Amino acid sequence: MLSGKTIVLGVSGGIAAYKAVELLRLFVKAGADVHVVMTRNAQEFVTPLTFQTLSTHPVHTELFNLYQEREIGHISLADRADLFVVAPATANLVGKVASGIADDLLTTTIMATKAPVLFAPAMNVNMWENPLYRQNQDKLQDLGYHFLEPETGPLACGWEGKGKLPDPAAILEETVALFAPKDLSGETILVTAGPTREELDPVRYLSNYSSGKMGYAIARAARSRGARVILVSGPTALAPPCGVEVHGVTSALQMRKAVVALAAESTVIFKAAAVADYRPATVAAEKIKKEGAGSLSLTLEKNPDILAELGRMKGERILVGFAAETADLVKNARKKLQEKNLDLIVANDVTQPGAGFDVDTNIVRLLSREGSEEVLPQLPKDEVAHRLLDRIVRLRRG
Ligand code: PMT
Repeated sequence: MLSGKTIVLGVSGGIAAYKAVELLRLFVKAGADVHVVMTRNAQEFVTPLTFQTLSTHPVHTELFNLYQEREIGHISLADRADLFVVAPATANLVGKVASGIADDLLTTTIMATKAPVLFAPAMNVNMWENPLYRQNQDKLQDLGYHFLEPETGPLACGWEGKGKLPDPAAILEETVALFAPKDLSGETILVTAGPTREELDPVRYLSNYSSGKMGYAIARAARSRGARVILVSGPTALAPPCGVEVHGVTSALQMRKAVVALAAESTVIFKAAAVADYRPATVAAEKIKKEGAGSLSLTLEKNPDILAELGRMKGERILVGFAAETADLVKNARKKLQEKNLDLIVANDVTQPGAGFDVDTNIVRLLSREGSEEVLPQLPKDEVAHRLLDRIVRLRRG
C-alpha cells in the first residue's frame, strides 16, 4: 500500500507517543521507508531506540548535531519526504507550526518541507476545545495542512472527552488515502456490506458468515479516491471507515429501506452485502422452547430482492452486484447480471480457500453487461476493491 513512499513520522511529547510505535510498525508493514523525528518531550515518553529498531534508521532528535546533520540534515529530511505524519501532535506543536516557530528539529523540518503534512492531534479535551487551539488548527487547515479528528473517550489526564489519538489503523488509512489518485471525486458511491440478521425470537436469528470485509474495503478505497461514500452495513465487528457516512441496519427489510432511500443520492452502487433471501414468517414474542423429542419446522417468507429493485430504478447510475456461488459460477452470475439489470457483477466462488466469506482475500471474476470477463487472481480485499473502482473509472471514461 505504501511501497516506494518515504514518510517522515514526527512524534511530539504526549502520553500517546507510545501509539506512534504501533503506527511506525504499520507503516513499515505497508512498505514505507520511515524516518522518525522526535521532540525532546517525546523522548520522555518513549526512547528513540524503539523507533530506531523498528524503522531501521537512526532517529532524528537534534537540530544542531554534527553527526545527524552530516548523515541527513534537516533540509534533506524535509526534501526526501513524500509525506509528513505527526502523531501525536500536541497543542504546543500545532501552535508552534501555526505561528511559524521553528525552534527544534521537528518544527524546522515541517516548515522546510513541501510534502503534504498530516497531523493526528492528541491532547486534553479542554485544550482541544480551547479557541486558541481551534484557531491554530483552522489556520493550518486553510493553508492545506491535513488533520485527523481525535477520538472521544477517557483521557490520560483523567478527563473524559475528545482528545485521544486516533487508532493507528485509522492514521494508516488516512495516510494511504492521501497518496491515492482522486479519480472518483464528484461520485457518490453507495456500498452495502455485511450480513443481515433475520429475527426468529428474542434470542435467535438466521444469518450468514459475511464479515463485511469486502464491502468495507470498497468503501475505504472509494473514499481514498475522492468519492463521497455512503455505507449501509449489516452487523459486523469492523471499525467504521474514516470519512464515510455509515448507516447501520440489522435485517434485510431495514437494509432495503435504507438503500432505496439513499440510492437517489448515489451515482454508483456496490451491493456487496450478503442479504438473507428469506426471513421467519413470524417472530416469536418469547424464546422458542424445546418441546419433546420432535423436530421443529420453521416457515420462511421471501425477503425483497434489493438489487433487483435497484435495477428497476437504475437510471444513469452504475450498478454493481456480487454473486456468491458454490456451483456454476459464471452461468449463475450472468443470470443475476441480466435479471437484475446490472452493469457489472463480481462473481466469487465461495467454496475456494481464500475467497468469499470472512477472509482477508478474495478471488473474483468481473462480468460486464457487454459480455466481457476479467479474471482476477487471489488478492487482498483492499486490492480487489481498487480493481473494481478502476473499472468504474474506465466505465465513466466510456
Ligand atoms: O463480507 P465478507 O466476509 O468480506 O464476504 C464477502 C462476500 C462473500 C459477502 C461478498 O464477496 C459477496 O459475494 N457478496 C454477495 C453475497 C450474496 O448475497 O450473494 P447472492 O448471490 O446471494 O446475491 C446476489 C446479489 O443480490 C448480491 O449483490 C446481494 O447483495 C443482492 N441481494 C441478494 C438478496 C436480496 N434479498 N437482496 C439483494 O440485494
